[in-house]
Amino acid sequence: AHGGRGSARGLAFTPVAPNTADAVTTPPGYVSEAFLRWGDPLFSDAPAFDPSAQTAAAQQRQFGYNNDHLDMFDLGRGQFAMVVNHEYTDEPMMFPAYDPEAPTAEQVEIAWAAHGLTVVVVEERRGRGRGSGALSVVVDHPLNRRLHTTSEFALTGPVAGHELVRTSADPDGRTVLGTLNNCAGGITPWNTWLTAEENFNQYFAGADAVTDPVTRERLRRYGLPGGSTDRRWEQFDQRFDLAAEPNEVNRFGWIVEVDPMDPSSTPKKRTALGRFKHEAAYPRVTRDGRVALYMGDDERFDYFYKFVSRDRVSRRDSDHNGTLLDNGTLYVARFTGDSPPEEILGDGALPADGEWDGSGEWIPLVTSDDRRGHVSHVPGMTAEEVLLFTRQAGDAVGATKMDRPEDVEPSPRTGTVYIALTNNTARGTGANPGPDEANPRTANKHGHVVELVEQRRDSGAGAFAWRIFLLCGDPADPSTYFAGYDKSQVSPISCPDNLTFDDHGNLWISTDGNALGTNDGLFGVATDGRYRGQVKQFLTVPHGAETCGPLVQDKRVLVCVQHPGELDGASFENPLSHWPDGGTSIPRPSVVAAWHERGRRIGDA
Ligand code: FEO
Ligand code: CA
Ligand code: CA
Ligand code: CA
Repeated sequence: AHGGRGSARGLAFTPVAPNTADAVTTPPGYVSEAFLRWGDPLFSDAPAFDPSAQTAAAQQRQFGYNNDHLDMFDLGRGQFAMVVNHEYTDEPMMFPAYDPEAPTAEQVEIAWAAHGLTVVVVEERRGRGRGSGALSVVVDHPLNRRLHTTSEFALTGPVAGHELVRTSADPDGRTVLGTLNNCAGGITPWNTWLTAEENFNQYFAGADAVTDPVTRERLRRYGLPGGSTDRRWEQFDQRFDLAAEPNEVNRFGWIVEVDPMDPSSTPKKRTALGRFKHEAAYPRVTRDGRVALYMGDDERFDYFYKFVSRDRVSRRDSDHNGTLLDNGTLYVARFTGDSPPEEILGDGALPADGEWDGSGEWIPLVTSDDRRGHVSHVPGMTAEEVLLFTRQAGDAVGATKMDRPEDVEPSPRTGTVYIALTNNTARGTGANPGPDEANPRTANKHGHVVELVEQRRDSGAGAFAWRIFLLCGDPADPSTYFAGYDKSQVSPISCPDNLTFDDHGNLWISTDGNALGTNDGLFGVATDGRYRGQVKQFLTVPHGAETCGPLVQDKRVLVCVQHPGELDGASFENPLSHWPDGGTSIPRPSVVAAWHERGRRIGDA
């Protein structure tokens, strides 16, 4: 039951129509359930969720707010260790009688506990309900864990112990409390979880009080607000005040590695991977057995990066693998188009050669050298400075300014790397850079997806080829492009954010900020063969929400529904979504599973 001219294997479903419902909608024959919601207890000593009587102690033992990245570690026998991060908090929607000028200590401590990470074991609910996709939480499983704003994290790699990460609470510069604004992530070949600290700038007040010009420029480049922060945490812990603790901010903005199988392990902030608004990190093993990690900096006109480890991945030695992300080379990408610049008009018109494509190079920023330690390739910056202020290193070497690099994922079959560039409405406006072949639209509202093919298909290569796969938007809009596929046969898609692959090799794309006036959702698309570019919408999320963390299993699709009801004027007293609990309830960010009601494989005809 699918329209048009057929579908790629694994994508045979009737696309969901765009809508503005306060609901998760799925194709005919599929059902869905929000099986883990903000505030649900992960431990039996946590109270049931009561938003009017919430406490920080309860929140530390419950599922956090604004779930974003999601992944699963298969434990066998229908159990999975599910890892989820909690990007940020929406205080006016979370708390009754919230005064943004004067939050209470309890509200701030709840917000600290609602940020961070969750590890929770879930199991298949065999024989219950329709189909076979339902999951439920195993409360009190020994792997269940919450990490939040007062949990301990270790700084590792070249910057650990550096004077710019020392604080009065941590004079050694090696132990950080908390992880903040964790967005997307990935799983390493040695089965650890990578999670990305993104918009950490919003938590640190007082940049205005900083007088040293070098420090001021660093803070400006990372978007630190001048005076107080929106959440006012600086009133409750002075480490969030730059005037009191100028280095605390340098301890955020890293990729964090977590071992979900060892609940007593200390997660590691891996400084060799650079510091920026990390969206995600996704690995691919190089031809000679090292690990490459692809990483984007989600900011308008910021950069796309790759780290390649110095050492090889071991099949057995997990202690060795635990050192891989501390030594290697960090690169930034330069994309060069192969069409004359005057053919890139900014309106989506194809250049004369019929593609937005070209070549690229990986510009090294820092290399770990056996004899000399970490060596900077950037004139005027030490290796440690390059890793701490990586954006400025990218500026210095002439990296390509991209339209907000969000999630990245290499195809497990071909190694082709897919990069979601979510949007950049400032492209070509005012004094901003104009369109280039890799970012070819002026005022890019709907974003695009780029394919990057490493030289010799080796993720350790120093050069690559690239081409645009999708220019998103309404297919009726002439500036859209669906890899050349018939645009009468595709779903509208806007603002690609998170990416995953299914077992058939299809790319799945979730969106954030749909600029077409309808809700965000999840889409599947073939990347090869006759259906390449046939984008099909699989689900929509409630209004105000973004779709995150997609994971496509054989018989189940998982998404995180982040910030449902986050719309102008929304508050605890005036909720603009009642999803998922219905009635007059406040909205709750939740993890959703969708499956076929007869237990068919996802996307089977
Ligand atoms: Fe947290 Fe770039 O999205
Ligand atoms: Ca071209
Ligand atoms: Ca994101
Ligand atoms: Ca986003």
